[in-house]
Amino acid sequence: MCGIVGYVGSDNAKEIIIDGLKRLEYRGYDSAGVAVVQDGKILLKKHVGGIANLENLIGDDPMASGTGIGHTRWATHGAPSDVNAHPHLSADEQIAVVHNGIIENYVELRKMLTEQHGIRFRSETDSEVIAQLIGIHYEGNLEDAVYKAVAQMRGAYAISVIAADQPEKIVAVRKDAPLIAGLGKGCNFIASDIPALLKYVKEIYLIENNETVVLTPDSVKIYDDERNEVSRDVFHVTWDADAAEKEGYEHFMLKEIYEQPKGLHETISRRLNEDGTIKLDGISMTREDIEGFNKIYIVACGTAYHAGLVGKYIIEKLAKVPVEVDVASEFRYRDPYVDDKTLFIAISQSGETLDTLAALREAKRKGARVLSVVNVVGSSVARESDDVFYTWAGPEIAVASTKAYTTQLMCMYLIGLYMGYEKGTITREYYDQFIADLMDVSGKLEASLKNAGIIEGLSRMLYNKEQVFFIGRGLDSSVSYEGSLKLKEISYINSFAIAAGELKHGTIALIEPGTLVVTLATQDFLYEKMLSNIQEVKARGAHVLSIAKEGNTEIETHSNEVLYIPACRDEITPLLSVVPLQLFAYYVARERGCNIDKPKNLAKSVTVE
Ligand code: G6P
Repeated sequence: MCGIVGYVGSDNAKEIIIDGLKRLEYRGYDSAGVAVVQDGKILLKKHVGGIANLENLIGDDPMASGTGIGHTRWATHGAPSDVNAHPHLSADEQIAVVHNGIIENYVELRKMLTEQHGIRFRSETDSEVIAQLIGIHYEGNLEDAVYKAVAQMRGAYAISVIAADQPEKIVAVRKDAPLIAGLGKGCNFIASDIPALLKYVKEIYLIENNETVVLTPDSVKIYDDERNEVSRDVFHVTWDADAAEKEGYEHFMLKEIYEQPKGLHETISRRLNEDGTIKLDGISMTREDIEGFNKIYIVACGTAYHAGLVGKYIIEKLAKVPVEVDVASEFRYRDPYVDDKTLFIAISQSGETLDTLAALREAKRKGARVLSVVNVVGSSVARESDDVFYTWAGPEIAVASTKAYTTQLMCMYLIGLYMGYEKGTITREYYDQFIADLMDVSGKLEASLKNAGIIEGLSRMLYNKEQVFFIGRGLDSSVSYEGSLKLKEISYINSFAIAAGELKHGTIALIEPGTLVVTLATQDFLYEKMLSNIQEVKARGAHVLSIAKEGNTEIETHSNEVLYIPACRDEITPLLSVVPLQLFAYYVARERGCNIDKPKNLAKSVTVE
C-alpha cells in the first residue's frame, strides 16, 4: 500500500519521481523519500509527512541525476518518521531500496544481520533488512546481490534497488505486490501503479510474481526466479493522463463522484450486443456452467464488500441461486464450504487487496470457479481469476471509493441478468426492460447531480453532528452501509449503519434528541415498514434526513429534510441513492476542514493483512 516510482534516463530523475509520487499519494502519505545516484554516491532525501514536506526538504537542491527511486509510505512496521521513511540504505550506503509489502521473516533476518554481520539498523522497519541483505551480498553485480537477498526473504514485496556505482541501472522484483515497468524512449520507468506514469508513457510491461526486472535507459529485461530471461507483451494503457488530474475540481473525490454517469455508461454500453442482450466480455461461462453452480460467494473488502451486498440481492433475485457475501479477511480463515459447484466472485477496485487475493486463492484451492470484478486492468486479482469482468471506471485516486462502487454495482446487475436469462429464471421481456432501465441510469444520475448545491447547503447545517445513523431496508440497507462508511472515513464522524428493522433490538438506545438519522426509503414495497422505523426514531427526537424517490412528497411530513433521487424501479435505486450520500459525506468533510482525498490512517490499496 505504499507507492513506488523509479526512473532511469537522461532527464532529472528526482523531478519525475516526485511528480509520480504525487500521483501515488493515495497509496500512502505518511512519509516520502527519494534517492538518486550521483557521482558514485547515493544522495538520499526523506521526510515524514506528505510529498510537500519532502519537496520542502529538497528545496533548491537539483539532486542532478538520471537514475533514482522514490517512495510514499503507509506505515506498517515502525511509526511514520524520517528514519522509517524509504528509501533505506545499506550499512555502507552503497545500496538504496524502496519496498512495498511486508517481509515476514524480518525479525530473523535482522538478528542474523546484526549478529553475523555487525549491522546496526537505523530504522524500525522490516524494509531496511532488504537494503542490508543486498548490501552484504553486493560485489559489483546488482542483479546477483538482489537474487541472493530475495532468496532469503519471505513475504510480499515489490522492491526497487539502485547502487551507488551503477549510475544507469535499477533492479526491481515483484512478489505479491504490484509492479509495472514503463517503456520510454532513451529512458525507462518502474512503478507500483499506472497513474504514476500516465504523463510519461502509455506502453508498459506488467511484471509477474517472482520476476526481476533490470532497467537501464535503453532496455528493460525481465527474468524469472531461475534467472531465465522472459518475454512479455507490451500492454497499452488506454487511460489518458487527464484521468489522474483533478481537472479543476477541488478534490479527486468530487471529480470522481461527477464521473459516475460516464463510468456507468461505459460499463454497460460496451457490454451490449446489437440485439440488446448482454455480452460478458472476459467471461467464458457457458449455460451449463451457470446451471451447475449451486452456490455463489461474493468476497471483498470495504466499499467493494458493500457492492457485494447489493450483488447478493440482485443475483439471488434474478438467477435464483443462493449467494453469500463475506469480508475477505473473515472468509479466508473460516474454512468456508466451497467446492467445484461454487462460483466465487471477488470484487476489488485495485485488484491488489491482499485479503481479497488470499480469499480468492483459498476458494480456487478448494475447486471454485473464480470470477473477479476489478477496475485495474492486469492487477493481481484479475490475473489469478478464471474470468475477469472489468468495471470501466477509469483510475480512482481518492481514498474514499465512489465511482468504483457504482460501476461494481453495474457489474452485479449485468452478471445477475446474464445468469438469470441464461438459466431461464427471468423472461426476455423482464430482461429487456431491466437493461433499458439500466441504460437510463447514467442520464438520471447526471441530472440529479445538479442538486449537489442542496446537499452542500444541508451539510453546512449538519456538519457538526457527533454521531450519525444510517438506516434502510432491503437494498436500502446495503446502501446505508456504504453511506455510513463514506461519512466516517472522510469526516471522522462516528457513523453507524443498521438494517432499519433491527434498530429496535439495541441500537435505538443511542438515539437522542437531535441525533442525525439518515433514512433511505426508496423501496416502494417496503415503504410503509420504513415509515414505522422513521417514526420510532422521530419519537425519540431524532433529526431525520430522508432519501426518497421523486414524487414521494408524503415522506416530507415525517422528515426534517428530504433528498430526492429520480424515480426508477426499486432494484436499481442503489445506483442513484448512494450519490447524495457520497456528496453529503464530501461536503460535511469539507465543512469540517478534513483532508478529503487522503483521510487519516487510511490507504487506497491495502496490500497487507
Ligand atoms: C481500502 C480502501 C477502500 C476500499 C478497500 C478495498 O480499505 O480504503 O476504499 O474499498 O480497501 O479495496 P479494493 O481495491 O479491493 O476495492
